[in-house]
Amino acid sequence: MNKIEILQADITTLEVDAIVNAANGSLCGGGGVDGAIHRAAGKDLLAQCRTLGGCDTGFAKITPGYHLPAKFIIHAVGPVWYGGAKNEEQLLASCYRESLRIAAEHQLTSIAFPAISCGAYRFPIPRACEIAYGEVQKFLQSQSSIKKVIFACFDAKLENALLLASRKV
Ligand code: APR
Repeated sequence: MNKIEILQADITTLEVDAIVNAANGSLCGGGGVDGAIHRAAGKDLLAQCRTLGGCDTGFAKITPGYHLPAKFIIHAVGPVWYGGAKNEEQLLASCYRESLRIAAEHQLTSIAFPAISCGAYRFPIPRACEIAYGEVQKFLQSQSSIKKVIFACFDAKLENALLLASRKV
């Protein structure tokens, strides 16, 4: 059974162990998927995030999911795209690796990702999808509790880019 699923979905509706948030370093909310997750999770999420002391780019921190159907939220801070000469690719890859590592550390079995850095942070979508799919595929080859990874694409453009990437890597 394929452990990786690519589908069009609003990630805040997914009933999985953890959804990943495309957050910023403050972890105190924003627009895009960050805004949607904070709105759906409720105000206790922001209160909890304020105790975390922020997060560096390429890393992630976990909180409960509060009013979301997901049990946990893993807040990953993706890189802003500055043209590719500022380690953006390695930092994006690290977001996926760190999110999966934290999920496995908590013995979670299912996790859903949005397209980290592909919105306000302007990372080129085709390359971001290759990095995302490649890192997930690599992680799933190792032993861990993770049995299902969902890529929750907010639109068909992203879904197609991920499907293309899945055939390349
Ligand atoms: N479900 C799934 N995907 C979503 C949702 C949603 N509800 N809402 C938006 N997206 C998609 C966007 O279409 C995009 O493909 O998530 C992807 C990431 O876009 P952003 O949310 O803009 O995130 P990012 O590019 O990583 O920028 C992060 O934006 O919202 C602020 O606080 C956030 O400063 C941080 C920055």
